[in-house]
Amino acid sequence: MNHHDADGARERAGGGAQRPGADTPTGRAAAGGASEPDSAPQAHGRGRPELVYYSSTSGNTERFVRKLGFPALRLPLRAGDPEVLAERPYVLVTPTYGGGSVKGAVPKAVIRFLNNPANRALIRGVIAGGNTNFGEAYGLAGKIVAAKCHVPHLCTFELLGTEREVVAVRDGLEEWWPRQQ
Ligand SMILES: Cc1cc2nc3c(=O)[nH]c(=O)nc-3n(C[C@H](O)[C@H](O)[C@H](O)COP(=O)(O)O)c2cc1C
Repeated sequence: MNHHDADGARERAGGGAQRPGADTPTGRAAAGGASEPDSAPQAHGRGRPELVYYSSTSGNTERFVRKLGFPALRLPLRAGDPEVLAERPYVLVTPTYGGGSVKGAVPKAVIRFLNNPANRALIRGVIAGGNTNFGEAYGLAGKIVAAKCHVPHLCTFELLGTEREVVAVRDGLEEWWPRQQ
């Protein structure tokens, strides 16, 4: 596993991400419950969400994941790279690449990873990146993966994520994650 911990750097302000799980049955509790202080460092592993993510060479999703600050495993860019195996439950973070349609919306590297039943068994939720210019297809990869894997589509963020999106996703995941294991 090639994990990294993020630097927590914050970029542009604004935006309006939902908190993770806001559109799911578990989301109600996640949005309303008590939260851990942002500054409280937690041990790697138990109680801390693990992420698996794909990001193309433009690197928007990579930057968003780094700002979240959770342990994260990046899926390979090239088809010839060795297959990645998840070892623990995780939340998938994926950009959307369909150009407005379902076909191609989920990146090939994500499909390849999820085609392995062992990896599919460990997914607990999905967060999608996208661009609101795509209208109805904004963050479509999240809906597709959620339906196929029977896990909640926790939220969507735009491009590399606004500061508000990063904070909402980080806080929401910290509340929601402990109940998923
Ligand atoms: C060819 C192409 C197709 C895209 N299609 C969609 C789309 O259907 N829906 C969407 O929300 N975003 C779409 N996007 C926007 C990407 O999801 C967005 O730029 C994302 O931040 C890319 O993440 P990455 O830099 O980590 O690869 C598309 C981007 C490209 C370049």
